[in-house]
Amino acid sequence: MQLVREPEAYRRACDAARAAGHRVAIVPTMGALHAGHMALVEAARARADWVALSVFVNPTQFGPNEDFERYPRTLEADVARCEAAGVALVYAPPREAMYPAGEETRVRVGATAAPLCGRFRPVHFEGVTTVVAKLFALTGPCLAAFGRKDYQQLRVITRMTTDLFLPVEILGVPIVREPDGLALSSRNAYLSADDRARGLSIARALSAAVRRFDAGERDPEAIVRPALAAVRAAASSVDYVELVDADTLAPPPARLGARVLLAVAARFGATRLIDNVVLGEDGPPLAAGA
Ligand code: PAJ
Repeated sequence: MQLVREPEAYRRACDAARAAGHRVAIVPTMGALHAGHMALVEAARARADWVALSVFVNPTQFGPNEDFERYPRTLEADVARCEAAGVALVYAPPREAMYPAGEETRVRVGATAAPLCGRFRPVHFEGVTTVVAKLFALTGPCLAAFGRKDYQQLRVITRMTTDLFLPVEILGVPIVREPDGLALSSRNAYLSADDRARGLSIARALSAAVRRFDAGERDPEAIVRPALAAVRAAASSVDYVELVDADTLAPPPARLGARVLLAVAARFGATRLIDNVVLGEDGPPLAAGA
């Protein structure tokens, strides 16, 4: 497995892989890899025979008071994990390589990026689309894998790819959870034992919502109200507990349709957790009685 740090060397490696007849995929990450990231690698490897994984804590997607400086950085362990998983190349550029002096261009986002996390992290999605566009331009991938854990990010990137006619297939991979239902996240490393226990309120609330929806409930308020109450009772603060159209992320109709996203963002201690289910599509994150 190769470890590459410079954009032009990375571009050459991807060009060579394509010239050798490989189908190239990219898995963009910020590192501190866990089983959720590795599920993306596995899904990519099932559809492409040369998978690159990028590790880059992207400064432009963090707000001024967010956790850019203290975001976990574990490159050595990440590289070992990738090697064991059959990744062909890890691209881990320094900050100045992705944002060299004089750079100023950003990929502007639209309505899909406005609700949910967009309301609380105003520069976030523009930072994400910009770095992902740069990664696509260097890689020339056939396929790129993203997790449904960051559901809005997946929709925003799919939108960008369509709008800019980027020749990349975007693959959305189901959320990987701990056995107790907590969605895996690099930020879970920040949680105290107490934060973590309270954080499980999210998976419980989402599970109850799935059961209500599957039992035939179609009134948005009857689904959101109990979910919000449950998360509010456990969290340090709640950014949102909201139902939106699963494709456009627009507000849902007065009577819910076949597929609708229930998305949550809340803080436990200083740690912000996000999670979601697509009602009508996903099963409950927790087994009955858990
Ligand atoms: P990061 O948070 O490292 O996540 C990288 C990818 O892993 C994302 O597509 C995310 O949705 C996916 N992922 C994280 N936890 C997951 C889980 N529990 N189950 C399934 N997939 C999971 O998301 C980013 O980095 C960045 O915004 C990035 C796209 C790399 C741009 O900087």
